[in-house]
Amino acid sequence: MIPDKAPKEDVFHAAGGLRKDAHVPSFETYKELYTKSVDSPDEFWGDVVKDFFWKTKHAGRFLDYNFDVTKGEIFIKCMEGATTNICYNVLDRNVHERKLGEKIAFYWEGNEPGDDLTITYKELLHQVCKFANVLKSQGVKKGDRVSIYMPMVIELVVAMLACARIGAVHSIVFAGYSAESLCERILDSQCTLLITADGFYRGDKLINLKLIADDALQKCRDKSFSVLRCIMLKHLCKDEGASAGSQSPPAKRSCPDMQEKQKDRVKKGHPLPKVPWNPEVDVCWHTLMDGASEDCEPEWCESEDPLFILYTSGSTGKPKGVMHTVSGYMLYTALTFKLVFDYQPGDVYWCTADIGWITGHSYITYGPLANGATCVLFEGLPTYPDVSRMWEIVDKYHVTKFYTAPTAIRLLMKYGTEPVHKYKRDSLKVLGTVGEPINPEAWQWYYNVVGDKRCPVVDTFWQTETGGHVLTPLPAATPMKPGSATFPFFGVIPAILNESGEELEGPSEGYLVFKQPWPGMMRTVYGNHDRFETTYFKKFPGFYVTGDGCRRDKDGYYWITGRIDDMLNVSGHLLSTAEVESALVEHEAVAEAAVVGRPHPVKGESLYCFVTLNDGVSYNKALEAQLKQQVREKIGAIATPDYIQNAPGLPKTRSGKIMRRVLRKIASNERDLGDISTLADSSVVEQLFENRCCAAV
Ligand code: WT7
Repeated sequence: MIPDKAPKEDVFHAAGGLRKDAHVPSFETYKELYTKSVDSPDEFWGDVVKDFFWKTKHAGRFLDYNFDVTKGEIFIKCMEGATTNICYNVLDRNVHERKLGEKIAFYWEGNEPGDDLTITYKELLHQVCKFANVLKSQGVKKGDRVSIYMPMVIELVVAMLACARIGAVHSIVFAGYSAESLCERILDSQCTLLITADGFYRGDKLINLKLIADDALQKCRDKSFSVLRCIMLKHLCKDEGASAGSQSPPAKRSCPDMQEKQKDRVKKGHPLPKVPWNPEVDVCWHTLMDGASEDCEPEWCESEDPLFILYTSGSTGKPKGVMHTVSGYMLYTALTFKLVFDYQPGDVYWCTADIGWITGHSYITYGPLANGATCVLFEGLPTYPDVSRMWEIVDKYHVTKFYTAPTAIRLLMKYGTEPVHKYKRDSLKVLGTVGEPINPEAWQWYYNVVGDKRCPVVDTFWQTETGGHVLTPLPAATPMKPGSATFPFFGVIPAILNESGEELEGPSEGYLVFKQPWPGMMRTVYGNHDRFETTYFKKFPGFYVTGDGCRRDKDGYYWITGRIDDMLNVSGHLLSTAEVESALVEHEAVAEAAVVGRPHPVKGESLYCFVTLNDGVSYNKALEAQLKQQVREKIGAIATPDYIQNAPGLPKTRSGKIMRRVLRKIASNERDLGDISTLADSSVVEQLFENRCCAAV
């Protein structure tokens, strides 16, 4: 339960100025609204619904659901009977009804300082309509799945919104994933079309995206599946030097000297990407756009029509296609964005996440655009060309609301305050974090150094599955405790359960679950509703199980303690141990592998892998390098192991189950192993301690 009064001790309060115009100005207002959201959801959400355009209105209850597996199939339906279009709501409504056509939707800031572009709401609408027509011309229909594998460019937003406009389902794959991962995702959702780009730079590293995409498409063909088309955006290659689609005009980018910069880059020894071209499938974005009309009537979708699929790691190894639907997701991302960042019309908002993750879907594209916000879309890295890049960008665009990950904060902390103090940052009003628990030291640094003790820090807890924030402070209303995601958002009812599924009251620690759905939660695992039910609803019937541990303190604040399933959180990205293990075991030298997390000062967790080799194979550095490379290739660079330890034996129970708890202790060199009486052979433990990898990475 939410306390009646907010605590006065050990908390940070928002500065007075922020409270004056805030949407939720006090803890009392939060509490009142929360009670309304839970007791009278139809009334609460009814007010939010009014802000949007509905082609037809819904009849009946706002939310209809079954959350209890023992009572039948799990389902969540929001606003059944209504029809709308999310693209219409985030673009046409802003341009035509709210007269925001001339307002800047995105400031695009490229990898290289000085590469920048702007796009207004009106221009974005035109681009989206044109690209929606392009998609139609390529045979894409309502309900078809479209895979998008692109860098952080405005065209990525154009592509996703164009899908939404015609009712196609986008499946965005983070551009850091490998060909194998992309192939697996294309196959799982049977995407008929792939949208990609020639390449991009991450810092000074060139990523040959088209080359990887082609590799993925070949892997699909090897498994008897072919996409109909691959649309390629020329991001780096303009006509000059590009081998693609020879007659197409240069990308319509408003930055006049991009091409000059490109030449500079080539001169500096920065090469252009290699662009293989297969005329049977490949088509050029720009050629198609040239002839496309700017008129495109949106497809009016049912509330529960799918909007997108986004893959997230699953504990069995195979990624899960988390599916979100139109109306509930739209309302939820719009409202959470407005209240959690206390969005005001003059704001410039910047979220540093990649659109390839849920954070980018909900809080770069849909939530901000639904509010008519101006956002920064950043292609580059926080450390390139130097470690003050973020603050330079904050000053350049007068960013008011800033959202990033704890791992980025910890990374920048290492360089001290000087790179931060080089810039004024006086436009900042609210700071946010997401992705993993933030350690109090990093929180304090963010609050004191980045925000000059002026800006509340909203520590937002949520998941790909939840669609939007579920536990979070509201900046003017919630007194903050460093490291706590504080209280539930409207309509969300958290609970803490013990191992036997009993709900704990008062201060306690256990499994974090939710008792009822909210509009923006996932609806199913694409193509596998059983897996949806098993993963999230079977362990504790009647509850959605997050997979996170959680503590509630005496003031009712929630503190996430981290994953309690076989999932690792590396730099804010979830990885499944099983997925990394299976990548290792695919190597001919490896008989068995067990992967655990080891605490890491910047990344949160690092990957520590134990491998048992086949008989007769000996362990050496070359093999270690091969194994690391293998995981990179199978999954992507984010999954590269930090440590690999040769483990002739693994600690197993008599029934043969690997005791990961013991391996975790070995990885972090903690001798206190707790009860190991169930171990079949305790001598392996000593051997593993002796052979620990000591070198820090
Ligand atoms: C997992 C979800 C939601 C967008 C990014 C990650 C962890 C996320 C927090 C936070 C503590 C957090 C949880 C969660 N997590 N935010 N504020 N405090 N932990 O999305 O890949 O679906 O990962 O990230 O462990 O379950 P995701």
